[in-house]
Amino acid sequence: MMDSASKPQPTSMALLLGIGLAFGLAGYLAFHWSYYGLSPAERPFDVRHAALRSSGSVGLSIGLAGTALMLLNLTYLVRKRLISIAWLGSLRKWMNFHVLTGLLGPSLIVLHTAFAPSSSLGKLALIAMFIVVATGVMGRYIYIHVPRSYHGRELEIGEVRRRLVEYREALEVLGVDPTSLKYESSTDAEENGKVGILSALRHMLQGDREAHRQFHQLQKRMSEKQADSAKSKEIHDLLHKLCRERQWLVRYHELRELMGAWRFFHRWLAVVLFLVVGFHILLAFRFGSLWIIQS
Ligand code: HEM
Repeated sequence: MMDSASKPQPTSMALLLGIGLAFGLAGYLAFHWSYYGLSPAERPFDVRHAALRSSGSVGLSIGLAGTALMLLNLTYLVRKRLISIAWLGSLRKWMNFHVLTGLLGPSLIVLHTAFAPSSSLGKLALIAMFIVVATGVMGRYIYIHVPRSYHGRELEIGEVRRRLVEYREALEVLGVDPTSLKYESSTDAEENGKVGILSALRHMLQGDREAHRQFHQLQKRMSEKQADSAKSKEIHDLLHKLCRERQWLVRYHELRELMGAWRFFHRWLAVVLFLVVGFHILLAFRFGSLWIIQS
């Protein structure tokens, strides 16, 4: 029996929401660009300055909303490490939520700075935030290379092997000759995972190219033999998974080690980010004479 890993990926709600919000932000920015585009010296003469500057009613509210989203971003970690209740949704959906809030929160923070950060701590927080987001984007790329179930759980090596057998069996049922699934490859021996981070990254990219090459090789072979076009979509999808997941198996240990090393950096950079943001907020509330705490 094939597990739910073979289900097609639905268009993610988080992706649609993200696109909608990105358009909303772009619209807001275009609408107020005549203020944000001014130099810091010119801004006080614009009527919107009181509201749009970092400590203004709009600027500060945007900053608080961005911080709230960055805190909400951590619920992925709580869901992954502490709560394993199925009705809370799959890890995959929580990961999408992590990415959405991890991009939207920082975007709001950039608006909060009004593109002219002045305090040193604020600048430091901004740099830390950019580094965390940049490592996040890089990590997301590694994340999709680590063998996972449809629901986002990391797979054990035995499960990966089992899935490959299932794909071959499903292809046989569809009339594909198992001998035609053989492929020419220089990288079909499983590796042991004891390489440096840069080599592991390089191997990951090579693996992508190899999967792509094998897929086209098999696809070409199939199209020469396969007459029934009704089955061809199903065969196409299975071949795609077979080639991709063969590479999972080849680099299984390496990819998991790489993910672990990356996760360590991302986690500790996030800790530094929240410490700096915490100090920045503390100082702003203590010395900033903010409208939000004035009666
Ligand atoms: C404010 C921004 C962000 C913060 C504070 C943050 C924080 C974190 C933390 C604390 C973890 C858990 C690390 C661990 O397992 O110990 C994590 C995991 C992760 N984050 Fe972020 N992150 C942010 C933005 C992003 C973005 C923008 C992306 C991708 C575009 C991203 C991708 C990931 C990935 C792929 C994981 C690993 C998940 C796993 O292995 O289960 N993060 N993040």
